[in-house]
Amino acid sequence: MTATKGLEGIVATTSSVSSIIDGILTYRGYDIDDLAENASFEEVIYLLWYGKLPKAAELTRIRDELSAAAAIPEQVVDLIRLFPKNANSMAALRSATSALALYDGEADDMTKEANLRKAVRLQAQIPTIIAAFSRIRDGKEPIAPKAGATIAENFLYMLSGEEPSDVAVKALDKALVLHADHELNASTFAGRVTVATLSDIYSGVTSAIGALKGPLHGGANEAVMAMLEEIGTLENIDPYVNRKLENKEKLMGFGHRVYKNGDPRAKHLQKMSLELGSQTGDLKWYEMSIRIENLVTGLKGLKPNVDFYSASVYTTLKIPRDLFTPIFAISRCSGWTAHILEQYENNRLIRPRAEYVGPSTQKYVPVERR
Ligand code: ACO
Repeated sequence: MTATKGLEGIVATTSSVSSIIDGILTYRGYDIDDLAENASFEEVIYLLWYGKLPKAAELTRIRDELSAAAAIPEQVVDLIRLFPKNANSMAALRSATSALALYDGEADDMTKEANLRKAVRLQAQIPTIIAAFSRIRDGKEPIAPKAGATIAENFLYMLSGEEPSDVAVKALDKALVLHADHELNASTFAGRVTVATLSDIYSGVTSAIGALKGPLHGGANEAVMAMLEEIGTLENIDPYVNRKLENKEKLMGFGHRVYKNGDPRAKHLQKMSLELGSQTGDLKWYEMSIRIENLVTGLKGLKPNVDFYSASVYTTLKIPRDLFTPIFAISRCSGWTAHILEQYENNRLIRPRAEYVGPSTQKYVPVERR
């Protein structure tokens, strides 16, 4: 038995949710470029869960279901009030999402119908948790979800308490479409491993949130913004990047396990970053990002991933830096739950082996003789 570090190249399951073939990402066979230009996030959620694009009545139904399920139990709001004001936002999301299960009477109902209803509640309530956490730590009261609003509109509204602009809603909606699913990434795999024990969907999504938190995965978008802020100006870029590469340190937002010729989602976020920057008259972060991309690609051949330009997009939307990864979770919840539903449909316990590299057989020695 020989281990493959990082499971690189290992095919761990079959899936019909999304694919990455020859650098092209598809959800249920639809190219991400097509979906990014044309589909709303709610259409994508339906597509991921049901395997087909919704007809008009089906789209209305899923929007209504998501909107009706967006309020979180009062006990979970009370729990969030107890979190330290400086809590890590992904840790807060992980804890509050886990707590949702305690107040869901169907939490352990493993029928397909109940799991779909719970997927709706998770998808609808994760944005409400994040907005409530953000407001409570700022000493403000959480805002109840707005009936009939889309997930993107509602999230921005619950965060700021103000009606978001159409431009902001469209930009966030597109970012949510782009992040919704990505084959067997680390968080999705974590979610599938958890539910393959026949544990419940809340446990699966909680595991996935924990995996997304890390800076090698979803946490990279925050790290990109931290890097841009640390660099500060265009003039500081060259010495900063050169120093990082010389020291063999990683530049956040670059590289990918699967894409070696570029992440197909990055160009959409780059375009969005330019458009939003032009509209607000603040192109600083966009221009810095372009300079960093040119330098890193030129020197190291590394291309930006989905996280690189999402940093400047969210900053231009005035979203606090530590909510970037939680926003990723809003989007990826659709993919996690689609994969979890798929896992339940054709389940087998996921239990790989390890190549043992510890000491060879030893004899027990009583404590007084060690
Ligand atoms: N900056 C500098 N060098 C890099 C980077 C980077 N961002 N990414 C990879 N490399 C280099 C490594 O140093 C290594 O070089 P070496 O062979 O000379 O030692 C080589 O490229 C291979 O890198 P690995 O880390 O082994 O590649 P792996 O496939 O395990 O990792 C990962 C992929 C984690 C995404 C990596 O590229 C990385 O750490 N990127 C920065 C973090 C990031 O942006 N994560 C978000 C990924 S997208 C997502 O999860 C949504």
